[in-house]
Amino acid sequence: MTGEIITLQIGQCGNQIGKEFWSQLIKEHGIDRNGQSVKEEQADSVREDDTSVFFRKDGQNRFTPRAFLFDLEPSAIGDVQTHFPGFFNERNIWVSKDELGAGNTWSKGYDYGVESQEDFLNMIDKEIDATENFEGFQLLHSVAGGTGSGLGSSILEALSDRYHKKIVTTYSVFPSNESEVVIQPYNTILTLRRLIENCDASVVFDNNALMNLASRVFRDPNTSYQQTNQLIASVQSSVSNSLRFPSYMYNSLSSIFSTIVPTADLHFLVPSFTPFTSDFISEAKEFKRNTAYDVILDLFDKTNTMVTRSNETPVYLGIFDSLVGSVDQNDVTRAILKSQQRVKFPAWSSTALHVNFGKKSIYNVSPNSDCVSGMMLANTSSVTMLLQKACSGFDVLFKKGAFLHMYQNGRMFQNDWEEFLESRETIQFVIDEYTAAEQENYLDEVLIDEENMVGVEDAVDVNGDNII
Ligand code: GTP
Repeated sequence: MTGEIITLQIGQCGNQIGKEFWSQLIKEHGIDRNGQSVKEEQADSVREDDTSVFFRKDGQNRFTPRAFLFDLEPSAIGDVQTHFPGFFNERNIWVSKDELGAGNTWSKGYDYGVESQEDFLNMIDKEIDATENFEGFQLLHSVAGGTGSGLGSSILEALSDRYHKKIVTTYSVFPSNESEVVIQPYNTILTLRRLIENCDASVVFDNNALMNLASRVFRDPNTSYQQTNQLIASVQSSVSNSLRFPSYMYNSLSSIFSTIVPTADLHFLVPSFTPFTSDFISEAKEFKRNTAYDVILDLFDKTNTMVTRSNETPVYLGIFDSLVGSVDQNDVTRAILKSQQRVKFPAWSSTALHVNFGKKSIYNVSPNSDCVSGMMLANTSSVTMLLQKACSGFDVLFKKGAFLHMYQNGRMFQNDWEEFLESRETIQFVIDEYTAAEQENYLDEVLIDEENMVGVEDAVDVNGDNII
């Protein structure tokens, strides 16, 4: 059976993304905002979709997300609760008692996380007790504020320590060029270290690319977070399509991510999506009939990508596509062959395009139901631009010692600034590793051992179920 996934949404950004994610999921599973099934279900009726991956269900057909909402101030979570009355498990909602937020400072968020770690782990253990075949976590946050980054970092450390055989993935939002707060590069560097060391795969977004894409998709120059977050939710729901509408392939997180994460260090994934039909966003335009061939090739176009990249042709180390709509197998085969001519793959990974023939929800009866929509998760060396940008912003501030006093009360910075230096070094290592991976002989130098694989082999029992 497909394993259950627990979602952790942290800070303003994490909770606002979560709001759109759950909106998309309930739409695809025929659930209303209170958690009630929209269709009358008979006790013996069999559903085509698997709701158990993301929801618990009680005897009255009421669905509750397997989710945690964390924040250091109440407004974002309050908004989510107003939108989904009675939907979330109240015991899984945590707002710090003083309700002050982290003031955009990573160390404040981190220290709250360390102080509350035992409570958090007890809460998470209880949620895991309500699973049968628990597979892993997905964490939603921004890397730039104080809560999603700092509290998120301490939770990532705790998860990888306590549940090290489980998959930990993140959906991580990076700030735009016009970052509102000057110390964002410090928060980003410290969080990136945890994304590298304490999780198995990070799907990354940057607000510049998201804003550009949203203004085009919604035909609205004044983009809102609600719009960018619908784009993110389209990616999240597509990544999990094969888990929620299971077939014989890609029915676990590890089977998806292990196809595109060649070594443990190279686990940053860049998402693309096209076209955004009304199955995914509000106010979508009408689309003409298209083919899977067009969609697969369009997904490589930088205008459909959610991380800014340079004009250089990137090298792709691994690609996972998920398509829904009227998909013709021949179109997919042709598109794979074409992309192998057009796109740069390193010699050691020349057939790295994996395609999930996703299922459309029966609840999505849109005017564009023939239209093919596609999502691509690409493990590509172009992600180094995002990492490099974070490092450059950090280097400028750190060289001058600017604003370091904001971190000096943090428990990690009591004696020195070593944590900053080590984090910077860790990120440089990954940038260098991506550059090395472009070379033909890269895998000759990598020791393929257990540590380098996503999903540890002995994490499943003889029936193929996950061991908790
Ligand atoms: P504190 O406010 O310091 O307590 O931390 P926080 O984690 O709650 O902060 P927040 O999540 O607001 O992080 C700030 C960064 O996230 C900035 O770069 C914002 O542009 C970005 N951000 C905030 N909310 C959203 C959102 O809903 N969507 C997107 N895409 N970005 C967001």
